[in-house]
Amino acid sequence: STDGSDAAKRRAGEAAADRVDDGMVVGLGTGSTTAHAIRALGRAVDAGLDVRGIPTSYQSRALAREVGIPLTTLDEATPDVAIDGADQFAGNDLVKGGGAAHAREKVVDASADRLLVVADESKRAERLDHPVPVEVLPDAVPTVERAVREAGGEPTLRTAERKDGPVVTDNGNLVLDCAFGTIDSPGDLATTLSTQPGGVEHGLFVGLADTLYVGSGDGVRVERY
Ligand code: A5P
Repeated sequence: STDGSDAAKRRAGEAAADRVDDGMVVGLGTGSTTAHAIRALGRAVDAGLDVRGIPTSYQSRALAREVGIPLTTLDEATPDVAIDGADQFAGNDLVKGGGAAHAREKVVDASADRLLVVADESKRAERLDHPVPVEVLPDAVPTVERAVREAGGEPTLRTAERKDGPVVTDNGNLVLDCAFGTIDSPGDLATTLSTQPGGVEHGLFVGLADTLYVGSGDGVRVERY
């Protein structure tokens, strides 16, 4: 996302990276804010920190390799901590998936002992109202679209500027961005979306975050849940 200042994102990312201790396995989220955390971890590795990362996307794997973070997988290890961004947050409820990486992010983030979320103040909301990305099996797009409309949402198949046709996720699926207006009950909506056949994963992360690092023009607010 290009919203919010890069300096604020960097403060948030570096504050979270600072919480990673020697010997830890770290879930590496996706996006421009988490990228600052991954770069900071790379510098720490250069300085002697022993960590292994579990990436959540093509992007985070490529960046981790570039900055020299040794990688592992969920087959080999369980993350002690995960660091991940958000497209919007209200308390510790998040909407994610702006980069279409939310399915693997949710698997890695939920498996971690602690999830540290990094964001800037522009992502804060009183109540969530950001469209919810739903990763969908390609064949299931029409049925999931109908289910989303029945649940009060308006689905839009995600496309990209420099791509003819829809965005394809790292898992080979498509994404419906589903506008629900203000989401009064994120937990109920999460359950509805999770139980829809053909819906692989949605971008509502309800109550998963343990600590939020929220960067602003002059510092980082740390909020614990
Ligand atoms: C990726 O699909 C998302 O869940 C990201 O975590 C989210 O888009 C945050 O990205 P930025 O830090 O670039 O806003």
